[in-house]
Amino acid sequence: MDGNGRWAEERRRPRLFGHQAGVRSVRTVVETAREIGIQYLTLYAFSTENWRRPSIEVKGLMTLLKSYLDSEQENMLRNSIRLRCLGEHQNLPGEVQAALARVIDATSGCRAMTLNLALSYGGRSEIIHAVRELASQCVAGTLSVDDLDEQRLSDHLYTGGQPDPDLFIRTGGENRLSNFLLWQSSYAELYFTEIKWPDFGREEFLEALRSYGLRQRRFGKTGTQLRKG
Ligand code: FPP
Repeated sequence: MDGNGRWAEERRRPRLFGHQAGVRSVRTVVETAREIGIQYLTLYAFSTENWRRPSIEVKGLMTLLKSYLDSEQENMLRNSIRLRCLGEHQNLPGEVQAALARVIDATSGCRAMTLNLALSYGGRSEIIHAVRELASQCVAGTLSVDDLDEQRLSDHLYTGGQPDPDLFIRTGGENRLSNFLLWQSSYAELYFTEIKWPDFGREEFLEALRSYGLRQRRFGKTGTQLRKG
């Protein structure tokens, strides 16, 4: 969800003003995804690297997150949206952790859509976290090295049990993955747009989905093989 800061600077406003506007896009995109039947949506809200930002911006983002969680619980329940958190949630401020735990628990039975918030998330540290768990099992003798495979590693990621993403959208004109879902995105279609996140609304989201619909996903096969089914 890139471009909040620049969007605010263009308007000669503080960066937090851009993040506040970004929350409106979050609401619109979640609502649109739910309406059109997307089953899994992951929003990269705060990376492990974002802790290096000025403390006033980090604090402001945490306050926005907390108020988003407080205000959205009812809406999520009404729309059967299950909330999950990807990342090192133990590093978040206590009140954000508490709000997250409350909404995750309240929505755990919701089935129409899963909304993952990536918070204090980094793709590489997620992989290390999973490898450590598996290595401990090997050392303890409860897992054999020969049983280590892609599926087992996937199961130990924060997204364990969820399908890999089909589409990866990055706003704000940057053409990078920036440590996001590195393992899971190996076959994701990438969509980069210059539009800054606060301007990324329903139409812009639908346009990204239309572009995705035009791609041919071959998963290593030839076009002829796919046409033959
Ligand atoms: C990156 O763009 C954006 C972030 C680090 C924060 C994203 C947060 C929100 C959209 C609001 C809170 C989230 C939820 C789920 C309620 P940037 O602001 O660094 O953009 P820049 O490259 O223009 O500086």
